[in-house]
Amino acid sequence: MIQISYLSKASSPMSAAQLISLLQQCHANNTARGVTGMLFYGNGTFLQVIEGEATTVDELVGKIARDPRHEDIRILSRKAIEHREHPDWSMGFEQVTAEGLSDVAGLRDFSESDFTPDVLAARKDVVETLMDRFRAPHWDPLVRELDAKDKVLEHLRTALARQRGRASFATLVIESLAEAGRKGPLGEEHQRLCESALKSLRGG
Ligand SMILES: Cc1cc2nc3c(=O)[nH]c(=O)nc-3n(C[C@H](O)[C@H](O)[C@H](O)COP(=O)(O)O)c2cc1C
Repeated sequence: MIQISYLSKASSPMSAAQLISLLQQCHANNTARGVTGMLFYGNGTFLQVIEGEATTVDELVGKIARDPRHEDIRILSRKAIEHREHPDWSMGFEQVTAEGLSDVAGLRDFSESDFTPDVLAARKDVVETLMDRFRAPHWDPLVRELDAKDKVLEHLRTALARQRGRASFATLVIESLAEAGRKGPLGEEHQRLCESALKSLRGG
């Protein structure tokens, strides 16, 4: 297995509805291909980590690099891994906001406007801290050993990570409705998008 992480710039700012539609595309494709990972978006910048079988991941990253929704793709790392760091996510998602950053110990001097490919490429420590926060709790061998001794704790950690992801996705759905509300009545396509997002939130 390998893991690839990269940075890129959105070709134009992504609306909440566009992000939902991208995440649903990731979910459907990645589940079918045994791909997992995490996607951060903020300040018009993407930071993504993708893991799975080498050929699958290399092919997928090639396809993603040609996607017109973003540009200036910069690969940060491509490495062999034994264990997935994000096994619970077909593609976890976190919107990078000022409030979210202020919650992360070690990132208090880092502002939302610093979330750019240029700054992040030079601040590997920030990328690591962000990844650490959202990495599955049992990826680390030491934590795995502790978890093996305490299945309840492992269960609670996994449930917490999953709820965090669901909350982030639910926030996007509400944001997309607020965005649409400002423009006028909800279009049919948007309504379908929200209904299918709600279906996945309900676990359907
Ligand atoms: C920032 C970004 C991240 C993406 N991540 C994924 C991903 O993890 N999995 C995926 O299948 N497609 C991802 N895509 C979409 C792909 O570029 C491509 O549109 C998609 O894989 C094509 O799917 P299809 O063959 O089902 O049409 C991403 C696109 C962007 C802009």
